[in-house]
Amino acid sequence: MSKFVIEFGTAGLPKPESDGRLDAPAFHRNVEPIWQAIESFLAGKAGAVLEIGSGTGQHAVTYARRAPHLTWWPSDIMASHRASIEAYARASGLSNLRAPQSIDLMQEDWDWNGDGGTLAAILCFNVIHISPWTVAENLMSGAGRLLPAGGLLILYGPYKRDGVHTAPSNAAFDASLRACNPDWGVRDLAEMTALAQANGLKLANIIEMPANNLALALKRH
Ligand SMILES: C[S@@+](CC[C@H](N)C(=O)[O-])C[C@H]1O[C@@H](n2cnc3c(N)ncnc32)[C@H](O)[C@@H]1O
Repeated sequence: MSKFVIEFGTAGLPKPESDGRLDAPAFHRNVEPIWQAIESFLAGKAGAVLEIGSGTGQHAVTYARRAPHLTWWPSDIMASHRASIEAYARASGLSNLRAPQSIDLMQEDWDWNGDGGTLAAILCFNVIHISPWTVAENLMSGAGRLLPAGGLLILYGPYKRDGVHTAPSNAAFDASLRACNPDWGVRDLAEMTALAQANGLKLANIIEMPANNLALALKRH
């Protein structure tokens, strides 16, 4: 599973703290832009936020601190990532940040263990291009199944528009992903939107992000 560290930047492998905390160089670039994109969607919401593919846990702990009115539920398939998330959560002392769960979007019937509260939003950053298309399909079908009306699925990452890369750097990134694994790759916005619609989700907003990324807010209707 070490292949996923490619997204953690070019500075080499994540540097573990002695307690299991990992550092993702990309987190430091993305943390503020992503927060600016999602903050208004989360304001006024109540209940749970489920993050899938949380990686190190740095987004979860940062945003849980900034949005104490919500309960944050991180998850990841990798044990080392869950250990990192757990270490960040422990060090933070935050009472609204829950233990990480093992959620695998390759499983069609994936589920989560909440406390019975409303699921306000599902977040998934930088996962679907480093995964087979099945992961996008299962993410959307699961969001359609688990989110109540008005609930949000918020995605962040690079996307093509009308089958065309929005920047040479995204084209190069896509080629490097496909060289790692032919089933990976930068997805097309129209295909994502169609998949969302097929699962009861409507594209509510597209937010242009730094470095030719997009944040997509999809609302369950
Ligand atoms: C590039 S990292 C992104 C981490 C974090 N979301 C961020 O933006 O910093 C991709 C993450 O997705 C997780 N992942 C990969 N395949 C997955 C799957 N099938 N289901 C759930 N998570 C997966 C990896 O373990 C990794 O933590």
